[in-house]
Amino acid sequence: MADVVFELNGHEVVVPDGTSLLVALRETCGIRSAKDGCAPQGQCGCCTVWVDGEARVACVTPVSRVRGRSVTTLEGAGAAVADAWSERLCATGGSQCGFCTPGIIMRLAAPRRQGGLTKESVDQALLAHLCRCTGWQTIVEAALDPVDVSVKREHATTRAAIEGRTVQSVAPPVAMGNGGFAGDTYPTDAMVAVRSAAGTWHVHDSLVEARAAAGIVQGRRSTLGLNWPIEVPDESEFVRTLRTTWVEPAYLEPDAVWCQPGGRAVGPLVNGGAFGGKRSSWLADEARRLADENDRPIRIALTREDVVRLGAKRPPMAAGVRADGSGIVWLRRTEGAARFIAERFPTWTLHEVDVPGPLTSLDVRGAVWAELSALIASVSPPEERGDHVQSPEGADAWARIDDDGVEITVRCGDVLDHTVLRSYCIGAAHMALGWVRTEGIAVDAMGEIHDLTIRSFGVLRAVDMPPVAVHILDDSRPPVNGSDAVFAAVAAAAWRRDGFPSRWPASRE
Ligand code: FES
Ligand code: FES
Repeated sequence: MADVVFELNGHEVVVPDGTSLLVALRETCGIRSAKDGCAPQGQCGCCTVWVDGEARVACVTPVSRVRGRSVTTLEGAGAAVADAWSERLCATGGSQCGFCTPGIIMRLAAPRRQGGLTKESVDQALLAHLCRCTGWQTIVEAALDPVDVSVKREHATTRAAIEGRTVQSVAPPVAMGNGGFAGDTYPTDAMVAVRSAAGTWHVHDSLVEARAAAGIVQGRRSTLGLNWPIEVPDESEFVRTLRTTWVEPAYLEPDAVWCQPGGRAVGPLVNGGAFGGKRSSWLADEARRLADENDRPIRIALTREDVVRLGAKRPPMAAGVRADGSGIVWLRRTEGAARFIAERFPTWTLHEVDVPGPLTSLDVRGAVWAELSALIASVSPPEERGDHVQSPEGADAWARIDDDGVEITVRCGDVLDHTVLRSYCIGAAHMALGWVRTEGIAVDAMGEIHDLTIRSFGVLRAVDMPPVAVHILDDSRPPVNGSDAVFAAVAAAAWRRDGFPSRWPASRE
């Protein structure tokens, strides 16, 4: 195959044919702003670049198609685009982990984009993208509203780390995709480890070789419907019951790790974004083992399908609550659940149930306590501010939902940075609405996952989101995570708003 010559950020480059544009950009040309969130599914928008000034998804564009054409990435888009947009997104909280952000900037700022930026046109443009963190609203605000980018934000990173539950920076470079993800920072002489569907590691000098050896086959969304694997044996003793299904955390950055022989692994939790979803990852140990075995630096590159197969899910459950707020929960057996429920919910009885399926973890955002908190809130009238939830750390959140949107009040100690806390609360509201209404993955009776594409997780799109208003109450206590309490409160309010359907997600089969 003849090499492909094209112009990249104003300079001619020559790359091998036979790959996607994204592989050529990242693996041959060293571009880091275009991210691989789902390649080759073409569904998350993280790899968006300009081809002759038009936004294009690079992971499904064969590199041969840009022969002789002009390709621009965020690195070459110029200060008027990169600096201005990253500062605006930072100023509204429209970028958290920053993995999705470069692609969104490239979409919204494309030179050949038709028409101006309006709420409707931005929502439409965002249909090509997914974001797990922000809940969209702050991205739309960055696109539409003039914001003061000069405000000094000393404590923004501290609040972001508290809310993201891992190290997280808040600065324009993060919004430009420079959050330091392990998939971007590996040593240039690192070998690549790719996992086959059977679970074998294939270690090669290049990503293309490793993927070919592993026989990577693109996952598809299945036609299998969701199932709710656990039932309430006798509903008659309860005021209200709830059954939940397998839920994918759906973070955008696929777990990536690199390690030197004898060294300490970098990743997968580098710049937040997973809300606990990556805490159970064992890839750091695996990268160290492979580096030692090969006596070379190793980077592990998971595909989206790998992430779905290997990553921890919310444990499915069935539960019933009595009028006094006590109840019984039948939970997919999950490490730590027995102790947690005994300590936090002493009037509840736990029955652990063995259900075949993927790994489940209490690390996933608010797992178990958010469900039980929503059940308990459901048997009392809402307070004036709405359904109230208190997190195990002592944060209070209230939420109510009406035709005008979602209204949240949160109190979680020293605010530190209003913009960041507000942004995380809006993101938590987005995640909660999706959880109650649309999020879930199909797992069959043998425990095999069938939904392997990022669009099949049911994450709400920008056009699906109602406006979210956030009221933040300051207090003198040390800061604690507030957005997890918001997540539970919004779930409780959405459940009430929808008439307490007995299964989540309620709006998807
Ligand atoms: S990586 Fe290209 S659309 Fe997701
Ligand atoms: S900021 Fe969008 S996925 Fe994290």
